[in-house]
Amino acid sequence: MPTKQRARSRNSEPASARRVHRERVLSGMRPTGKLHLGNFVGALENWLELQKRYECFFFIADWHALTTDYADTSDVMRNTLEVATDWLAVGLDPHHSTLFIQSRVPEHAELHLLFSMITPTPWLIRNPTIKEQARDLGLIASDDETEVTKINYGLLGYPVLQAADILIYRAHYVPVGGDQVPHIELTREIARRFNSFYLLPLRRSVFPEPEALLTSTPRVPGLDGRRMSKSIGNVIELGESSESIRSKVSTMLTDPQRVRRSDPGRPEICPVFGYHRRFSPQAVVDQVDLECRTARIGCVDCKALMARHLTAFLDPIRERRRKYAARPKKVWDVLWTGSERARRVARETMEQVRTAMKLIPNRKGAKATS
Ligand code: TRP
Ligand code: SF4
Repeated sequence: MPTKQRARSRNSEPASARRVHRERVLSGMRPTGKLHLGNFVGALENWLELQKRYECFFFIADWHALTTDYADTSDVMRNTLEVATDWLAVGLDPHHSTLFIQSRVPEHAELHLLFSMITPTPWLIRNPTIKEQARDLGLIASDDETEVTKINYGLLGYPVLQAADILIYRAHYVPVGGDQVPHIELTREIARRFNSFYLLPLRRSVFPEPEALLTSTPRVPGLDGRRMSKSIGNVIELGESSESIRSKVSTMLTDPQRVRRSDPGRPEICPVFGYHRRFSPQAVVDQVDLECRTARIGCVDCKALMARHLTAFLDPIRERRRKYAARPKKVWDVLWTGSERARRVARETMEQVRTAMKLIPNRKGAKATS
């Protein structure tokens, strides 16, 4: 009983008062361009829930994009705009969450620099996510350590920048996918090391150790049954038209053992069924489950049915996306305003960092915020 009541009374407070007490959540996305269903189910859907309960900071990691896309940077701005447009289309609300751009808050770079002083190189060389990424991009041939030292300094330091992104807001929780867990682990190690060297007056530490929040919802697979990913080219975009959804869904992989229409199928291993489970009403899910197993529904009809429910689900998102896409200035405004707000917090943290590191004199009676 208390939980519900507390939630209700909190909601009746003005947003500014609420913000003071809530714990902080922070997450970021690289500007990859238009977002897809995998981004929605894997991240955004969770962010929408978190935005109701926490003080959230969500940002577009344009500097992180440069760790690999440094030679041709001409897409970064457009991709940033596309990501922000999708954020607003799904319902991230700039009145509740701070939506901003990493490079508009240069304090991230300053903190990254200071962290680079205290981060031992072996911590970076053993990072499995960076090794894998460098290998996938063909930057290195294998993941043995002498190879890893050949990658660019900026890419090697990717997780140090990420630690700065997180800690500069003294965030408590970081919703991310499983591949990002090593980065959050490193963030905790950097926070611990920083706190062990430098403290504020009264032995207070500057940084909390943030925790990763993993999404529990199963991901939707891509059209080919593999992980949905833009680089593989197996995605359904959030703004995809209904015709395009229909035609893409018709190419989806189904149960490979269902060769003829009369063969019974196994919905539990069929990617199309995974979508039904996620986007169709329960009655349809139950019906498809039964009719697939007994070969009463064919895959063509089953896919058309799924495409209809998926389209209905995406209708409002597509509609809002269309509106925001027609007003890019409004979207940039949201990001500029958010960046200013983020910057105020980042500046406060940097004051504490400089004080703890004795780079500036300790202002007498300077009160730290939490
Ligand atoms: N590395 C993250 C990704 O590729 C993006 C990111 C950058 C991030 N900084 C962050 C995520 C800070 C969470 C917190 O998805
Ligand atoms: Fe998959 Fe539907 Fe075909 Fe069954 S009928 S195998 S659930 S597409």
